[in-house]
Amino acid sequence: MRGLYKLLLLFLLACQDQNVLGSTIINGTNATDNSMKYMVSVQEDGEHKCGGFLVSKHFVVTHGGCKFDEDGKIFVVLGTHVLSKPGSKIKEHIISTCKPPPGIGTDFMLIEINSKKPENLPKEIQLQDPETDVKENEKCQVAGWGPVKNDDNDPLDQLRVADVTVISPKACKVQIPGLRANAICTGGKQTTDKGGFCKSDAGGPLVCKGKAVGIATVNEDCSFTGLPNVYIDISKYRSWINRCIQEKKCLK
Ligand SMILES: *[C@@H]1O[C@H](CO)[C@@H](O)[C@H](O)[C@H]1NC(C)=O
Ligand SMILES: *[C@@H]1O[C@H](CO)[C@@H](O)[C@H](O)[C@H]1NC(C)=O
Repeated sequence: MRGLYKLLLLFLLACQDQNVLGSTIINGTNATDNSMKYMVSVQEDGEHKCGGFLVSKHFVVTHGGCKFDEDGKIFVVLGTHVLSKPGSKIKEHIISTCKPPPGIGTDFMLIEINSKKPENLPKEIQLQDPETDVKENEKCQVAGWGPVKNDDNDPLDQLRVADVTVISPKACKVQIPGLRANAICTGGKQTTDKGGFCKSDAGGPLVCKGKAVGIATVNEDCSFTGLPNVYIDISKYRSWINRCIQEKKCLK
């Protein structure tokens, strides 16, 4: 996987001189109040590290490459779009993290939380039904607290959301050689997308018709060069995730 990211990064760097205004994550807008309360900020020592989303009262999905120091204090923060705002903000300790077994494994993980008041958690987002493929040209959304510029590393306080357009895997492969099999792509040359995700947006959901369809991968380049954004296709892993949710534990 690392290889692919490196390749992608090289690709992006090569394209950079064509990019005039290096700007936004996302070129997004502030998320409307309470529209995405399932959005999770995975934090270490109070600092936003990755995006994520609540899929049950016990589990959050995030990116598999979200790394923490062994002795860091890891929390998930959810129920709010503005991280600094008390009010509806909920902070939960992490009990454990687990990745899907090898074979079905890919670059995402589940974070197990043990809420003292699960009834206070926001409503979880439903996962995409494996029978309903996302369609080419479908309009979806991606959200995150990731920085909006390449020379910025500080995450934002306010959740931003961008409209993105799904493209076919075939069209994506042409633009990103070595694209993984279980990918969904948005944006790219044939769309009018002006935004997408980057940096610490990894782990956030691609949301189509209110369901979580993809998991944002790592994209270190926020300059939006016109290359597609790549997500992990959740429908391929839905049955494993659902079994973990039902049995309230990470299944190996
Ligand atoms: C978006 O949120 C930020 C931070 O809360 C705020 O400063 C800004 O004015 C908001 N933008 C709009 C268009 O509401
Ligand atoms: C962001 O959106 C604006 C308006 O749609 C567009 O002019 C600009 O080029 C976009 N920025 C990037 C980096 O694509």
